[in-house]
Amino acid sequence: MLEDTFGRRFHYLRLSITDVCNFRCSYCLPDGYQCDSDRDFLSLSEIKTIAQAFAELGTSKIRLTGGEPSLRKDLPDIIATCAQTPGIDNVVITTNGYRFPDVIDEWQDAGIGGINVSIDSLDPNVFNAITGADKLKAILAGVEKAASLGIPVKINSVLMKGVNEQSLKQFQAWLKDTSVTLRFIELMETGLSHQFFKQHHVPGEPLKQQLLQEGWTRIVRGKSAGPAQEFQHPDYAGRIGLIMPYSKDFCDSCNRLRISATGKLHLCLFAEQGLSLREEIASGDQLALQHKISTMLNDKEVSHWLQDGFTGATKNLAMLGG
Ligand code: GTP
Ligand code: 5AD
Ligand code: SF4
Repeated sequence: MLEDTFGRRFHYLRLSITDVCNFRCSYCLPDGYQCDSDRDFLSLSEIKTIAQAFAELGTSKIRLTGGEPSLRKDLPDIIATCAQTPGIDNVVITTNGYRFPDVIDEWQDAGIGGINVSIDSLDPNVFNAITGADKLKAILAGVEKAASLGIPVKINSVLMKGVNEQSLKQFQAWLKDTSVTLRFIELMETGLSHQFFKQHHVPGEPLKQQLLQEGWTRIVRGKSAGPAQEFQHPDYAGRIGLIMPYSKDFCDSCNRLRISATGKLHLCLFAEQGLSLREEIASGDQLALQHKISTMLNDKEVSHWLQDGFTGATKNLAMLGG
């Protein structure tokens, strides 16, 4: 089992398969994707090698991320390859939903176990202003379709002062009858978003207190769960989650590692650099790959240091899939 020097265990791999994205979320890629980085993305057979190596090291969950992962034409094969890897019991994806609702059946056939999709507002005008994409209606149709097929769906909504912080009531009304988990995410500062962060960051803690006062109760977190604190309420079909990276002890429960779309291991979302595994991945040398991952893990730090304004090499979250 992969374990770091602080006793944290890593069951969960976030695997980016492209850093390209076709949305322009104001907090992530306000000027759209710039084609200035290496685009030699991991091939299907390299992804197979990675899934196998991590599975043998005790990983049971893989989340496919991007950029926008569905920009890859071989996405269904990638899902199937990961899902068929012995030891991997859950393959999930984080998407902007731009190919919804048509792709849901294909993803389910390939073995997808859950979908996280960004919806920063239920108001189409606000949604368009944030993402630059007129897609809310199709995304909501996709959410409905996935839920009706029994695929667990989580919605990501980044809280932003002066942009969507008033959306809680509308989201809550929607959750009365919609069986999804809606997560409010505290805006994180990245290398290219210092000014945006200063203007729009909203702390999650007051929202948590409000939910507790309204009768929402905390749900216990599973061993392969992400960082959200989740809440349920007897009057609501849906659940609410809070992702508060600036809260004390956020990193104590870290259970995930990241691989970039070009095969670098990132020990943290805000690590100073990615550590290249491409040679071992490309050669398919499982023993060498596993040895390198285990050795590198010794350097994992206790915290992301975001609270001190440290953003590492992360210019935006599209670079590494969040
Ligand atoms: P699941 O529990 O598997 O659904 O994972 P998740 O909620 O982490 O997945 P998702 O890709 O939907 O990410 C939601 C938000 O959490 C994004 O803004 C991520 O950047 C953020 N996030 C996920 N893991 C970490 C982490 O280790 N550190 C920080 N700071 N943010 C994270
Ligand atoms: N802060 C918080 N969340 C972010 N995301 C992208 N950039 C940021 C940021 N700076 C979220 C997106 C998406 C997920 C992968 O990461 O909304 O849902
Ligand atoms: Fe694309 Fe996701 Fe970044 Fe939005 S947050 S621009 S959908 S990578």
